Amino acid sequence: MTRPEAKKRVEQLAQEIRDHDVRYYAHDHPTISDAAYDRLLRELIELEERYPDLRAADSPTLRVGGALRAAFQKVPHVRPMLSLDSLMSSDEVREFDARVRKALGTDEGLFAEAITYVAEPKFDGLSIELVYEDGVLARASTRGSGELGEDVSENVRTIRAVPLRLADDGPAAGRRGVLSVRGEALMPLPAFEALNASLISAGEEPFANARNAAAGAVRQLDPSITASRKLDFYAYDIMSGGGVIATQKEMLEALGGWGFHVEKNVKRCAGIEQAIAFHAELGGMRDALRYEIDGVVFKLDRRDWQEALGMRSRSVRWAVAFKFPPRVEVTKVLDIVVQVGRTGKLTPVALLQPVDVSGVTVSRATLHNQDEIDRKDVRIGDTVRVRRAGDVIPEVVEVMKDRRPRGTAPFELPRKCPACGGQVERAGAYHLCTNGLSCPAQLERHTTHFVSRGAMDIVGLGDRTVRQLLDKKLVRDLADIYRLTAIDLSGLEGFAEKSIENLMAAIESSKRPRLDRFLFALGIEHVGETVARLLANQFGAVDPLFEADLEDLQRIKGIGPEVAQSVFDFFRSARNRRVLARLKTAGVKPLHERRSKAPQTFAGETMVFTGTLDNMPRPEAQRRAEQAGATITASVSKKVTLVVAGPGAGSKLGEAGRLGIRVIDEAAFLKRLGDS
Ligand code: IVH
Repeated sequence: MTRPEAKKRVEQLAQEIRDHDVRYYAHDHPTISDAAYDRLLRELIELEERYPDLRAADSPTLRVGGALRAAFQKVPHVRPMLSLDSLMSSDEVREFDARVRKALGTDEGLFAEAITYVAEPKFDGLSIELVYEDGVLARASTRGSGELGEDVSENVRTIRAVPLRLADDGPAAGRRGVLSVRGEALMPLPAFEALNASLISAGEEPFANARNAAAGAVRQLDPSITASRKLDFYAYDIMSGGGVIATQKEMLEALGGWGFHVEKNVKRCAGIEQAIAFHAELGGMRDALRYEIDGVVFKLDRRDWQEALGMRSRSVRWAVAFKFPPRVEVTKVLDIVVQVGRTGKLTPVALLQPVDVSGVTVSRATLHNQDEIDRKDVRIGDTVRVRRAGDVIPEVVEVMKDRRPRGTAPFELPRKCPACGGQVERAGAYHLCTNGLSCPAQLERHTTHFVSRGAMDIVGLGDRTVRQLLDKKLVRDLADIYRLTAIDLSGLEGFAEKSIENLMAAIESSKRPRLDRFLFALGIEHVGETVARLLANQFGAVDPLFEADLEDLQRIKGIGPEVAQSVFDFFRSARNRRVLARLKTAGVKPLHERRSKAPQTFAGETMVFTGTLDNMPRPEAQRRAEQAGATITASVSKKVTLVVAGPGAGSKLGEAGRLGIRVIDEAAFLKRLGDS
């Protein structure tokens, strides 16, 4: 392709993608499949990579989150990036100190020695490894799984606090060979506030906190955006190299000498009590600092002792994080509403007078279940303390009983489902609507799941359309989808001749789903894609599942008792049997391909897939691997022989590393599969 041709194609693709975005997001009415959309996007990414100057400032590729993350290469860390145990109370910290003294044996002998700790702020940012080769920044990566991170070198190079070449004031050893430095990328609060203000005025969604904003900036595909976000970087650890450095304090000095920002509010403490006092002192200064901190890290000062204490599986024994208590605010309960989930579970939610809790506006808090409500005695009209701990859903900590107005009454979950009026039954701690798929709240969620990608994949049946179909009572159970007529659809908002035709075609072509996808689509509790595949392989069709007894199900490798029970109950329910029979009469015929004649390149392997893949959806990759002879399981254990990891791989990758299981990436997987 010549350059002018590329230019033309880039513009064409960008426009096409924007149009699809509008149809998808604004009109809830996509006209192409997700896979086709991904292909367009990928083509654009590739062209822009080949001709970077053709990337428009507003190219759709800049906006995409998940799909584009694949653009970051996975890189192994020089050493695993371990984490810290979090402690919440000074007593726990004293226990930590006791463990350290015991392990080091400093309490023995005549003179019990106080241990020297270095106490540093715990930055609430994004942990980054910087690798220097002969004093020059060679690579920067995110923490990722701890073993493998994402290569964000280009972006991190734009952070001015990151030295591209080590300065001369630090030890000369840092400028020879490989030096690995760990630190935190963060967004100073003034920059964070300015960024959010500009996002809001542009009509965009602001970031919930500075950490998310920093993470977003580091993982931008366009380094010039990272550059504009004014990130800072503080170094706090040498993971490898740098010569002989005896103490943590000296290490911070060495880092400073090489030109890194190191935190000044660091204290060398003789004994744990001094460290605890410093935690209180920093806690008092927390709101005056330029950036967010969420605790204080205590580290053994002597590095030979650090070495001697070593690590557990993921965290070190020589340091801990003493967290600050979560921020709590006071507000009022305006109302308590009850939500009905897909499985019929009733969840009480407190609607609050909006209140800012450490930078996030909180207006709802979960009350979990009746037991929780009783325990805390939360009532409408109460003044309560609410807490937001990290990214956890806000919750009510306690009721301030002395501020309770007169005339309030204890709150009780209704006996009738608020969505359908059906009978509510108590099961353990929870209240459940017993109306199953006849309950609109359950049906709506069931239906959106049923038609979604990875399930029946009916393109054009978005959430809003589903809602309309239910409201108009055109769909009363899943099988009704297959009885819809063009006339039914013409009564819906946003449907014209062409879109009706498309949707009818999409419904028709979904009638031959793969068996595993069909089972997944049914929304059986605990049946995700992996379990669905196990069931499909075992039973080969839907009908045998009606006959399966609990033992048959429990015997399947990879299926536990809870899952087996849920599958068993589902196929025993008269209502579900009716719906399945109606689906069958409507012409829905799931197909199961027995292992094919594909070359058995994965014969004998037991495989786990983790993370996202670029070239095909994960279920597809798993199916191909199975056809090539592999057995797929959901979790990593000693039986697993091979792990395929894509971007975003999590704990499974770490587990594989610990068990010494071979890990390959998508490219290697495709190669072995025989794809180019
Ligand atoms: S030391 C193994 N020091 O806290 C010890 N970590 O799990 C290496 N963090 O993700 C970590 N401030 O990114 C250390 N002054 C500090 C820190 C710090 C923040 C982060 C670190 C890690 C998390 C703890």
